[in-house]
Amino acid sequence: MSLARNSKAVERAATQSEISKSDLLVVLLEGIHPSAVDALRHGGYTRIVTHAKSLAGIELRAALTEATFLGIRSRTQLTGEVLQHANRLAAIGCFCIGTNQVDLGAAMRLGIPVFNAPFSNTRSVAELVLAQIIMLMRGIPEKNAVLHRGGWVKSAAHSYEVRGKTLGIVGYGHIGTQIGVLAEQLGMRVVFRDIEAKLPLGNAFEMAGLDELLKVSDVVSLHVPETAETANMIGTAQLAAMKPGSHLINASRGSVVDIDALAAALESRHLHGAAIDVFPVEPQGNDSAFVSPLTRFDNVILTPHIGGSTSEAQVNIGKEVAAKLIRYDNNGSTTSAVNFPEVALPKHAGRSRLLHIHKNVPGVLAHVNEKLSAAGINIAAQYLSTNADVGYVVIDIDHAASQPSLAELCRVPATIRCRILY
Ligand code: NAI
Repeated sequence: MSLARNSKAVERAATQSEISKSDLLVVLLEGIHPSAVDALRHGGYTRIVTHAKSLAGIELRAALTEATFLGIRSRTQLTGEVLQHANRLAAIGCFCIGTNQVDLGAAMRLGIPVFNAPFSNTRSVAELVLAQIIMLMRGIPEKNAVLHRGGWVKSAAHSYEVRGKTLGIVGYGHIGTQIGVLAEQLGMRVVFRDIEAKLPLGNAFEMAGLDELLKVSDVVSLHVPETAETANMIGTAQLAAMKPGSHLINASRGSVVDIDALAAALESRHLHGAAIDVFPVEPQGNDSAFVSPLTRFDNVILTPHIGGSTSEAQVNIGKEVAAKLIRYDNNGSTTSAVNFPEVALPKHAGRSRLLHIHKNVPGVLAHVNEKLSAAGINIAAQYLSTNADVGYVVIDIDHAASQPSLAELCRVPATIRCRILY
């Protein structure tokens, strides 16, 4: 692969011969799971530098100047300013779910796709929620707390099987659907609510509105993203609409539940329990104190945002993101990139592949084709995808034409980056 970004690099790239994977520097920060290193080594990359912690300032800029691929988790801040140093960077891998730590727009405008692992920990969250449903319905958190204090509460009061009870899932995406499937296997009736039209899995039943779902559910579990619409979507009115004696689970985002309203609903015993994994304000690290009005309730399971934190999820995240980086490097596919036009490309065996990333202004594709045509270069296949800002055109050509083609393409006005894959 060779990569060109500015005019000097264009000239350099135009005269470059094939660069092998072993020449490319991969920098992995924040103790990314060794499964990523294994996958990259297996993919032919040998220059892999790992750091246990995140980098910032001069150290981060230095790493960015040299790296072709950068892997981070949630702590490394890739601002627009920092990304200006990323001259060779072809792609960023966020080995986590969230991508707020990256200026996605700046990366896109620099022609750098960003990949993440949106569902590597889905199963982990679903399993925890399933366990919480059973624990809450049996009143275990409260009983457990009493025994820890030397008490004894042997009673069947407010203790229920989950079979035949109704689980209301708000946000029927990756996690919500997975929980629905598992809960049905326990004999629960599953109802859900989503803003998008969703295929109900198994016997799940879509509710007309949130209120309808709240009224019929014995347990309500929230699995929506953090958006303006989901901010405090469960507040005083929604809690009041829930069935008396029901339970609330939130393992989505802390902003979704009004915690003071939840505390009031627990205080009045309108709700019999809750399990909360995410909070409006979370401690910065394991040394910081956790403060919440919910700590006084025995019937609330509190967990430190670990819904998705399992060994299996870490392994899966390492494999999933590494695979996306390797695929992009091998054939230019940007499927599931979070900031970039998506193309799923076939192999280009026996040909060279040109990747041309450009500003999405009128006439670029015509310009590209004119340049190649004028140079007598035959196009074997062409793929295009655009978003509002950026266009991504992929062109397969004969090996013999690869270097002159790269030179021609890089001179097209509005070019952001050119790469060639052999
Ligand atoms: P997803 O994107 O697959 O599903 C979210 C669903 O919510 C989508 O179907 C979407 O249409 C729906 N939705 C959006 N706004 C809505 C609204 N106002 N009302 C009803 N539905 C709405 O996301 P996924 O992977 O299922 O994750 C769900 C949540 O779980 C996210 O907030 C994510 O950050 C969180 N999460 C938490 C973890 C933890 O450790 N506790 C780990 C992984 C994810």
